[in-house]
Amino acid sequence: MALKIARRAAIPPFFAMEVLAAANVRETAGERVLHLEIGQPDSAAPAPVLEAAARALKSHRLGYTEALGIKPLREAIAAHYRLTYAIAVDPARVVVTTGSSGAFLLAFLAAFEPGDRVALAAPGYPAYRNILVALGLEPVDLLCGPETRFQPTPAMLEAVEGRLDGLIVASPSNPAGSMLSPTDLALLAGYCARRGVRLISDEIYHGIVYDGLAASAATMGEGAIVVNSFSKYFSMTGWRLGWMILPPDLLRPVECLAQNLFISPPTLPQLAALAVFDCKAELDGHVRRYRQNRDLLLAELPKAGFTRFAPPDGAFYLYADVSQLTNDSEAFCARMLAETGVAATPGLDFDVGRGHKFVRFSFAGSAEDMAEAARRLRTWLA
Ligand SMILES: Cc1ncc(COP(=O)(O)O)c(C=O)c1O
Repeated sequence: MALKIARRAAIPPFFAMEVLAAANVRETAGERVLHLEIGQPDSAAPAPVLEAAARALKSHRLGYTEALGIKPLREAIAAHYRLTYAIAVDPARVVVTTGSSGAFLLAFLAAFEPGDRVALAAPGYPAYRNILVALGLEPVDLLCGPETRFQPTPAMLEAVEGRLDGLIVASPSNPAGSMLSPTDLALLAGYCARRGVRLISDEIYHGIVYDGLAASAATMGEGAIVVNSFSKYFSMTGWRLGWMILPPDLLRPVECLAQNLFISPPTLPQLAALAVFDCKAELDGHVRRYRQNRDLLLAELPKAGFTRFAPPDGAFYLYADVSQLTNDSEAFCARMLAETGVAATPGLDFDVGRGHKFVRFSFAGSAEDMAEAARRLRTWLA
């Protein structure tokens, strides 16, 4: 007899990971695959981080830490806010987590009841919606397009029928790469504060910005849950470390949840991450490479027939409207991989209703890979 599987586990796959798996199969068979599907830096963590990790391996017992993270790292994160955004953040409000993914789980569990309704932009990072669904919460899609730079507005919130308990924003966003201006973020934060809506600001792509200014919701009072990570700008993706700045009322609930769900964030990455805030020169070098990659693709992809992109202000993605080429981005990406060896992610990951007309290209890889990918796509679609 088949045993029960919980309905909450019936969430969609993360297509980017499925494309990666298919790409890896081809690579193992000896093909040269260009990875424009996966959103991670192809650089390692900076050398001082590796050295700190090596030292910790030799000298540290590596037991559990405090559930909210080690004090020196929470202080270093608070200092990062002082330097980057010129604000004083109490280290007591900083919570170290297992990637920003762990932060979302803790934040959603602490802030929402099953059945609560949380608004989010479509297109958007798929795990927001899938974690919400797995927790019995209701995602409320805000359909965003080029008119609002693929970002939500207070007018969209106003137009939602029924109650809203939360709003998730991401600036720069995945997949669009577009940003909310400081004024637009402040307007959303103000709306949420007035209406009793919990604002969750995903700031994971801060530091990877090409045009404009990435404003932090942490500069707009203590009401927002601010989420960030060592995975992107800090080039420590697989170390699985992130953080949150919490409103004071959520600190104790999150601490109790973190104690029970994770005991503590991973110890070795915490000790190593203490060194990363001094590696700005190297990390900014990666951002310069991303900018060159972005400029190269923006110049070359139109020659292949990709002409409409969301404004790529930051992050390392180009979200292309491919409706003139296909009405089935999943099949299109599968064919692209099979016939050119270029892996890209179908928009379905990010927008259930309209993603069949979009493809996301990640330009976090090397300049050579970007140039080669553009060349292959040009020949393919010629
Ligand atoms: C917008 C966004 N938020 C959160 C994450 C999760 O990252 P991590 O758990 O590595 O911090 C990602 C990963 O790609 C992302 O694109």
